[in-house]
Amino acid sequence: MRTYLVTGGAGFIGSNYIHYMFEKYGDEIRIINVDALTYAGNLENLKDIENRANYTFVKADITDKDAIAAIFENNDIDRVVHFAAESHVDRSIKNPEVFVKTNVLGTAVMLNCAKAAWELPDGSFKENKKFLHVSTDEVYGSLPDDPDAYFYETSPIDPHSPYSSSKASSDLLVKAYMDTYKFPANITNCSNNYGPYQFPEKLIPLIINNALQGKKLPVYGDGKNVRDWLYVMDHAKAIDMVQEQGKLFERYNIGGHNEKQNIEIIEIILDTLCEMLPDSDPRKAHINRELITYVTDRKGHDRRYAIAPDKIREDLGWEPETMFKDGIRLTIQWYFENEDWMKNVTSGDYQKYYNDMYAGR
Ligand code: NAD
Ligand code: TYD
Repeated sequence: MRTYLVTGGAGFIGSNYIHYMFEKYGDEIRIINVDALTYAGNLENLKDIENRANYTFVKADITDKDAIAAIFENNDIDRVVHFAAESHVDRSIKNPEVFVKTNVLGTAVMLNCAKAAWELPDGSFKENKKFLHVSTDEVYGSLPDDPDAYFYETSPIDPHSPYSSSKASSDLLVKAYMDTYKFPANITNCSNNYGPYQFPEKLIPLIINNALQGKKLPVYGDGKNVRDWLYVMDHAKAIDMVQEQGKLFERYNIGGHNEKQNIEIIEIILDTLCEMLPDSDPRKAHINRELITYVTDRKGHDRRYAIAPDKIREDLGWEPETMFKDGIRLTIQWYFENEDWMKNVTSGDYQKYYNDMYAGR
């Protein structure tokens, strides 16, 4: 039975990945989820699997060497899937320090503890041990509005925000471990994800939540920045394929050729909400384009991201399975059915964050 150590499994992508893995492998695998439960970590995301005999949650910070080393000492870990990170660009612009601590130092601790547990006396590594570092396309910087320009695995690293710089730094640390020690790892760089359990500081859940409440929909700058959106379960599948079939030491870009301007995304959400809500639902009356409000642009706002997923498609046969029109309906349906989840995460600290972040805009 393979044992997985998943970091950040109580967050958006990590919790979807854990659901995907239990759905796919059932009792054939064991998962240990280590998460510090920051504002972005929520055990409600894992309610339906928390009582499984082959699942364990450990509350710990990845920068805590002793806590992470103890997990490796007490368990024979076969796979590390490293999601834990501070993940929101706007927060990184306001407060970069915690991004360096978690994303850079935290990754160094994870690498060091895995190396200590897996290394043999001759400097080689125990067989069939693998570390997957989950990263972002934002490390490649920003593309021009040229439809032929894409991010490839060979594109130069050129991050702009404190978030993407901290992720690029962590990617380089993983590369250093692979180059120096032949440490058995892969790096994946994925485009923007959307789907269930995404915290409403990110564009898609924020727009769904605000529209349902008849609140303004804040659009940064001219609204024409482009992101390449991927349904989160397609990302989960890609991570598993890279870890099981990918070539060790390789980097794989993950994306589904689904580039859209932010303003297009907002219009699709408004149209889909109106299609899905029955006329009798009072929320439908206030959903319209007048809610769209152009606000001060994000500092250093990257113009366009677009992944060339050729390598993962050609080498591993991975293809996204969820078209955006279907994925956005699944996502909206999930938020309809989980109003309490949204209420819980948007009370308290979130209100303060929202007021601070959007007050000056
Ligand atoms: P998220 O913010 O939703 O979740 C992050 C999780 O990490 C939370 O559960 C949080 O509690 C935990 N965490 C934070 N600091 C920690 C610490 N010091 N120790 C232990 N746990 C800690 O993020 P997400 O959107 O799920 O992203 C997961 C990973 O995927 C990140 O590494 C991110 O860079 C990467 N990624 C995200 C996207 C995206 O669109 N969201 C795209 C590509 C890559
Ligand atoms: P976000 O979801 O924060 O992801 P990232 O910055 O990592 O790509 O933002 C996606 C895009 O939406 C980005 O171009 C910024 C823009 N945006 C808005 O226009 N308004 C908002 O309120 C937010 C949160 C984002």
